[in-house]
Amino acid sequence: MLLAQISDLHFLPKGTLAFGRVDTAGHLERALAHLNTLEPAADAVLITGDLTNDGDASVWAELMGLLGRLRAPVFAIPGNHDDRELMREAFAHRALFPAEGPLRFAADLGPLRLIGLDSLIPGQPAGRLGPDQLAWLEAQLGAAPERPTLVALHHPPFRTGIDHMDAMMLEDGEALAGVIARHSQVACVLCGHVHRTIQCRFAGTLGQIGPGVAHAVQLTLAGAPSRWVLEPPAVLLHEWRDGRGLVSHLDFIGAFEVGQFSNEHTRVTDVHSGASR
Ligand SMILES: [Fe+2]
Repeated sequence: MLLAQISDLHFLPKGTLAFGRVDTAGHLERALAHLNTLEPAADAVLITGDLTNDGDASVWAELMGLLGRLRAPVFAIPGNHDDRELMREAFAHRALFPAEGPLRFAADLGPLRLIGLDSLIPGQPAGRLGPDQLAWLEAQLGAAPERPTLVALHHPPFRTGIDHMDAMMLEDGEALAGVIARHSQVACVLCGHVHRTIQCRFAGTLGQIGPGVAHAVQLTLAGAPSRWVLEPPAVLLHEWRDGRGLVSHLDFIGAFEVGQFSNEHTRVTDVHSGASR
């Protein structure tokens, strides 16, 4: 089972640049082409929020047209830059979300279960799940305790050390940790929001933040101001194998030089490992 995670598309219509510089539509097109050529193919694609950059209905329509290129089924959760009702409408054809309330879902992906949560507080950069959604999550996890489960939400429930992002993290992360800690089948908690690849132990499982497919947030662990940086965009590939569990790979988007390891290199490796030649 291979789940590809992309995040923080911040999609703007073709020809519109974020910050006057970042071609988010072009970045998305390259990400989608990358996802469609994965070998083996992804069984599903998860988008962990900020699909648009405060987009209106026409932006959502353009975005959904592009996402329609994906060969794998798409699952998504909202970020702070998404409008809940526009997103509900955009994904109506997938029958992913309820007709009203939070944009949450639970889906079976082969041996895995994927639960998506809605941490959007309209008009605010920080996130919150709220007691009703936490109770829903508790019930969902309680109903399938044997099934390895991934829980996804946009806002990380743990501090990253990047102060200006931690100031807009999930507000009820401790309550979420309480729920997750009661259900040992949660293999991972997947987030976006920070536009960086980050891992952290969380509530007895692994918390992971996926990188953005366009601009990154500059790595600043010394309280520096918020800046974007055009580091190489990437996706996360979460592979589940029975008997082993979940392994997540960072996969950069783009074409990079590839070469065969030489015989000489192999001999060097053999010497180091002590193997006989
Ligand atoms: Fe974002």
